[in-house]
Amino acid sequence: MAAYDLIQHSYDVVVVGAGGAGLRATFGMAEKNLKTACITKVFPTRSHTVAAQGGMSAALGNMGADDWRWHMYDTVKGSDWLGDQDAIEYMCREAIPAAIELEHYGVPFSRTDDGRIYQRPFGGMTTEYGKGTAQRTCAAADRTGHAILHTLYQQALKYEAEFFIEYFATDLIMDDEGVCRGVLAWNLAEGTLHVFRAHMVVLATGGYGRSYFSATSAHTCTGDGNGMVLRAGLPLQDMEFTQFHPTGVYGAGCLITEGVRGEGGYLTNSEGERFMERYAPNAKDLASRDVVSRSMTVEINEGRGVGPNKDHIHLHLEHLGPDVIHERLPGIAETARIFAGVDVTRAPIPVLPTVHYNMGGIPTNYKGEVVTLTEGNPDAVVPGLMAIGEAACVSVHGANRLGSNSLLDIVVFGRAAALRCAELLEPGGGHRALPQDKVDAALDRFDKLRHASGNTNTAAIRDRMQRTMQTHAAVFRTGDSLAEGIDKMDEVIRSFADVNVSDRSMIWNSDLVETLELDNLLGCAVVSINAAHNRPESRGAHAREDYPDRDDEHWMKHTLTWLNPEHRVSIDYRPVHDYTLTDEVEYFPPKQRVY
Ligand code: FUM
Repeated sequence: MAAYDLIQHSYDVVVVGAGGAGLRATFGMAEKNLKTACITKVFPTRSHTVAAQGGMSAALGNMGADDWRWHMYDTVKGSDWLGDQDAIEYMCREAIPAAIELEHYGVPFSRTDDGRIYQRPFGGMTTEYGKGTAQRTCAAADRTGHAILHTLYQQALKYEAEFFIEYFATDLIMDDEGVCRGVLAWNLAEGTLHVFRAHMVVLATGGYGRSYFSATSAHTCTGDGNGMVLRAGLPLQDMEFTQFHPTGVYGAGCLITEGVRGEGGYLTNSEGERFMERYAPNAKDLASRDVVSRSMTVEINEGRGVGPNKDHIHLHLEHLGPDVIHERLPGIAETARIFAGVDVTRAPIPVLPTVHYNMGGIPTNYKGEVVTLTEGNPDAVVPGLMAIGEAACVSVHGANRLGSNSLLDIVVFGRAAALRCAELLEPGGGHRALPQDKVDAALDRFDKLRHASGNTNTAAIRDRMQRTMQTHAAVFRTGDSLAEGIDKMDEVIRSFADVNVSDRSMIWNSDLVETLELDNLLGCAVVSINAAHNRPESRGAHAREDYPDRDDEHWMKHTLTWLNPEHRVSIDYRPVHDYTLTDEVEYFPPKQRVY
C-alpha cells in the first residue's frame, strides 16, 4: 500500500453531511459550545434537501383546526404501523416549535392573507383521526427545501462550526469495544487524506435512491453513511421499504411535487378517468404515496396507461389557472416545460411512480443515537455514533413516509442529536489514540479502490445494479422476482472485484469518487433486496403480490440486515415500539388502512 501522509483533526463532534439534518445538527452542537466539524462531499447548499418541494408538516392550525395528535395518528397509519410510536410522538409534537423556529431563522414561507405561514393539504394528512382533510404542510411555494437549506446554512455560518467542504468521508474508525472514534475523509480538491477524531460522529449522509435506475434523488444520494455502517459490522433497518413517489416526470424522473395534488391537481388514465376515486374513495388523489403509486401501476398494467406505449399517467393542473400556478407552483411549471415539454396551463404532465425516499436506514432512537441488537437488547446504543435524516431509520416513517414528513424529520432530529450531544459530552474532552489497525484498514480499502485495475468500469457495474433494483424490487414484488434479483445482485457484487479505476490521481478524481459511491450503493442494494425477499407480507411501500395482506401477528417488527465482508447478508429483528413517550397521547393500535 502507498504511504499516505494523514492530516489529523480532533473535534468533540464530527457531522458527516450538510443537508438539512446535518446543518441543523452542526449549528445545534456549536451552539452548545461543542467543537464541531461538518464534512460534506458537496457544497452545503447543493445537498439534496435543496430539491424538496412541497413543504414541511406541522400542526400549526393556520388554515383550520389542527392537533399534533392527529398528525401523529396520520403518521402511524401512513407507516402501516411499522413506525415507532415514541419517536412519532416526539416528531409530531416538536413539529410546531420546529416550524416557528425556522420562521424565526428566516425561512421565506408563503403567507396567508393575514400573514401566517401558508399550509397546503398533503397525502394522508387528516383532521380528527381520519375524518377531514388537514392543511398541515408549511410551504415556501414549491421550493421549500431550497428555502430551508439556504436558511440553515446561513444560520450555521453564525457559529464557530468548521466546514470541510468537498471532503468525502470513506470509513468510520471503530475501536475493538465497538465505540466509534472518528472517520477517514478524502479532500477531493487538494488530494489529501484526513483522520477526524471525535467523541461523536453524526451521519447525515442522506438516502441511497441512486441504487435504482430512475429516482428523484440527486446523483449524490449514494448511501455513503449506510455503506460505512455496514462495513463497520453494524446493521441497517427496514431496508425493504423504498418509497416510489407517484409523480416523477415520465422518462426524466424529476420530482413533480405532491403539492400539485394538494392544490387541486388530479391524475387521469387513458380513458380520461380520475381513477383514484376507485382506489381511495375518501382521500382520492391525496391518499398516501404507496397507495397512489400502486393504483397508477395497476392502471398501467391493466392497459389504461396514457401515451403511445400506454406506460404512464397524466397529472392535470390546467384547471388551477395561471395565477395559482404562478404563485404556488412556479418551479413545477418550469420543470414540466424543460423536462416534459409541457405548458402546464394547457396540458397535463406525463408522470410515473419514481423512487423517491428510503424509509430504511441506520437504526436510531429518537435522540439520534445509533442502536443495534446486542445480546438480546434490541435498543443497545452504539457509543460515539449517531445518524439523522434520510440516512437514519428512527423509525418515524415505518413502512411508508407521508409527504412533507421528511423536511420535518431532518430539522427535528438534527436538533435532537445536538441536544443529546450536549447531555453526553463535555466540551473539549481529551481524545485517546485511535486504533491504528482500524485506520490502516480504512486506508487499505481506499488505496485498493484507487488502484483497482480490473476489466469492468464503474458505470457498467452501476448500470447493472440500478436495472436489477428497478426490475426486481419495484412497486409490486413477488418472491420469485426478488429471488431472481438476489441472484443477479450477487453477480453484480462479485463483478465489483473486477472494477477498473482508470484515474490514479488524488485530486478531483471523479472515477474514484464514483467507485467509492458505488461500493456504498451496492451494500445498500443487496441488503434491500434480501430484506424484501425475507418479508412475506405487504405493508406500506412493500407490496408483495404473492402475500397481498399485512401480517401483524408475525411481521410487525423491524428487519435488521448485516453484510459481511464476503457480501453475505444476515437478518434479525427488533420489535416495533408499541408505546408512546408521554401520557399526552395513547398508543394507536393497528387497524385496517383505508383512505
Ligand atoms: O412531493 C413533494 O413535494 C415531496 C415531498 C416529500 O417527499 O416530503
